[in-house]
Amino acid sequence: MPGLLNGRVAIITGAGRGIGRAHALEMARQGAKVVVNDLGTGRDGAGNSQGPAGEIVAEIKKMGGQAVANYGSVTDPEQANAIIKTAVDTFGRVDIMVNNAGILRDRIVFNMSDEEWDLVLKVHLYGTFYCTRAACRIMKEQGYGRIINTSSIAGMGQLGQVNYSAAKEGIVGLTRTVARDMARFNVTCNAIRPVAATRLTVTDELYEMRRKSMGEEKAMQWRKAIEAASPEDITPVVVFLASEQAANVTGCVFDVRSDFVARYEDPPRLCKTIVKTGGKWSVEELIEVMPKTLTAGLGEPLPAVAVKQLTCDAKGWEFDGKKLTEAATPPVK
Ligand SMILES: NC(=O)c1ccc[n+]([C@@H]2O[C@H](COP(=O)([O-])OP(=O)(O)OC[C@H]3O[C@@H](n4cnc5c(N)ncnc54)[C@H](O)[C@@H]3O)[C@@H](O)[C@H]2O)c1
Repeated sequence: MPGLLNGRVAIITGAGRGIGRAHALEMARQGAKVVVNDLGTGRDGAGNSQGPAGEIVAEIKKMGGQAVANYGSVTDPEQANAIIKTAVDTFGRVDIMVNNAGILRDRIVFNMSDEEWDLVLKVHLYGTFYCTRAACRIMKEQGYGRIINTSSIAGMGQLGQVNYSAAKEGIVGLTRTVARDMARFNVTCNAIRPVAATRLTVTDELYEMRRKSMGEEKAMQWRKAIEAASPEDITPVVVFLASEQAANVTGCVFDVRSDFVARYEDPPRLCKTIVKTGGKWSVEELIEVMPKTLTAGLGEPLPAVAVKQLTCDAKGWEFDGKKLTEAATPPVK
């Protein structure tokens, strides 16, 4: 085994499938002892099963690693505390906390039910908070820790995902603050916005929604880009962030997909400013000045997906018409 995480104890929520599964297997391969948490629930958070977590634990043990299953839900503070307790009771500490568990309940804002809103917020935002809080209590005492949270490009705006985008952008804010709260304890906290082909992203329903909002060609382009991105592509960045080598990396947000890894400018910067010298703005003045300055050029319909500038075709990734693959790939020595 390569051993980058030798002796470290890692908790990964939602590790029974998809991206979390890939993290668990690679972290174990890198020598970490792994708590594989998974409720074994449906894509929409309905039902539960011990199957997914149990299978990954068996797989890790088969390859000579150490792992323990936890079948609790991150939505419940007691069960979240129990996930962290499982790590301490079984392996004696918690070095790495990967908040990854996730579900979807998409609906256009005016039709979204309280239940759909609550459950998605509970799994993503509350679940991330409950597990992070419990892990931080241990990490503070240890004077060491690595927390990696899972956000999404949907947080920047995505049709039909008001609950999910609110939760995922909440996770970015949580990450920025936990990074500051925990800095003096040698604990880092970062977030990723992954894209990978899993049951969350490759469905006919999603394709149909995109086809209606973006047209056939772009929806197909989107689908191909996602299908080319596997959960295993996300893991190396997460393992790096979980390692001792990433000691100076905290409060950052990364975009990760296929061969593409990028760090967001974060927090977002002000893009245009107006200042009134010698006084404050009145409504009348702003009505006059804003359309000529801050809001000039606005008015086009918003794209269904905010990160529309990022596209992938056979020639590689493009952002605002600029090829990114070449720009982002450093010369390998
Ligand atoms: N796949 C993508 O392209 C993509 C994009 C952006 C963000 N994400 C995020 O990545 C994470 C992993 O998603 P995935 O695509 O691998 O999905 P997935 O459905 O394959 O895996 C998610 C796992 O989380 C588990 N889970 C759900 N609710 C849980 C709960 N309350 N407690 C514990 N476990 C629970 C599920 O049982 C499942 O095994 C999610 O947070 C998702 O929002 C994924």
